[in-house]
Amino acid sequence: MPRIGVLTSGGDAPGMNAAVRAITRAAIHSGAEVFAIREGWQGALAGGDHIVPLGWSDVSGILNKGGTVIGTARSAEFRERAGQRRAVRHLVERGIDRLIIIGGDGSLTGTRELGLGWGELLAELVAAGEITQELADAHPALYVAGLVGSIDNDMVGTDMTIGTDSALHRITEAVDAISSTAESHQRTFIVEVMGRRCGYLALMSAIASGADYTFLPESPPGDGWEDQMVEVLRHGRSAGRRDSILIVAEGAADTHGVPITAERISEVLAEKAGEEARITILGHVQRGGVPSAYDRWMATVCGVEAVRQVLDAEVGAEPVLVGVHRDRVRAVPLIEAVSDTHAVADHIAEGDYASAISARGAG
Ligand code: F6P
Repeated sequence: MPRIGVLTSGGDAPGMNAAVRAITRAAIHSGAEVFAIREGWQGALAGGDHIVPLGWSDVSGILNKGGTVIGTARSAEFRERAGQRRAVRHLVERGIDRLIIIGGDGSLTGTRELGLGWGELLAELVAAGEITQELADAHPALYVAGLVGSIDNDMVGTDMTIGTDSALHRITEAVDAISSTAESHQRTFIVEVMGRRCGYLALMSAIASGADYTFLPESPPGDGWEDQMVEVLRHGRSAGRRDSILIVAEGAADTHGVPITAERISEVLAEKAGEEARITILGHVQRGGVPSAYDRWMATVCGVEAVRQVLDAEVGAEPVLVGVHRDRVRAVPLIEAVSDTHAVADHIAEGDYASAISARGAG
């Protein structure tokens, strides 16, 4: 019977549990066994009771829960060769050679490397006498499917990442709440949102909440942005708005690469408009809590497809990323999705924002 390992890695995201549930049940339905690898790659490194079988009812009641019930971690040790070897040993000892990982860009990159280096890692384990040749021969390849679990929506290869929609709802609700107190006092609020180097959450929440101004990593404001911002806010007030809302992405910077933080914006407002703005850093409130209907749906359909991918794979199969494109599930080569995602980050680092946007859209 084929054995599938499932793990969540990197920052948690609402909808990860829906994916774990769908993977478990689709795998059982297809005649496979499923093992949870607890606490992300740390679990594969630890082995023992960190790798546990999952039955149908083990995943009951988790569809609507935030976070990940099988735990997650960011593992530095897994990036080392010795760590990868240990993880591979623990997997083959359990007969697991199919892996579905739900994580962000960093986690999926590491998994792709493990899939590509599988043969060599097994050979090293045999040479060190840690596993037998028979065991290595029984598992000639690691079949990998990745689902992108991240609120950042920063991965090429899928239109949405699991958790983004929930985070967006959370941010919009928070900004709505802030607006009512801001209007009462005719105040200005600067709201900082997550997203790492990606401005998706900032841009979408600014549109959804009708914010006055937003700062995005992909569209840094040029010199003189301070006066322009003050002018836009003044214009809003003179048109009858009682509040001013600015949304700043945590990765925002100006064209010189100097970070634009909520603090910096607040100082500019104090100096140029005599405004005592309030700052709200939403932080992990954005990442926790129940998943939206969209995230439950997307995680479920992608989870089912990921099971099909790893069960149908044959020796030599490329690791795949399972995501959605135009509301349909699709699998693309993980290697391309990862390198295109890195290309976007490189373009942003070089200040070539037009190429970054078109590279992100291309996926
Ligand atoms: O990648 C998801 C994310 O929430 C980012 O938006 C944020 O920058 C980061 O993780 C925060 O990481 P941590 O939870 O380790 O503080």
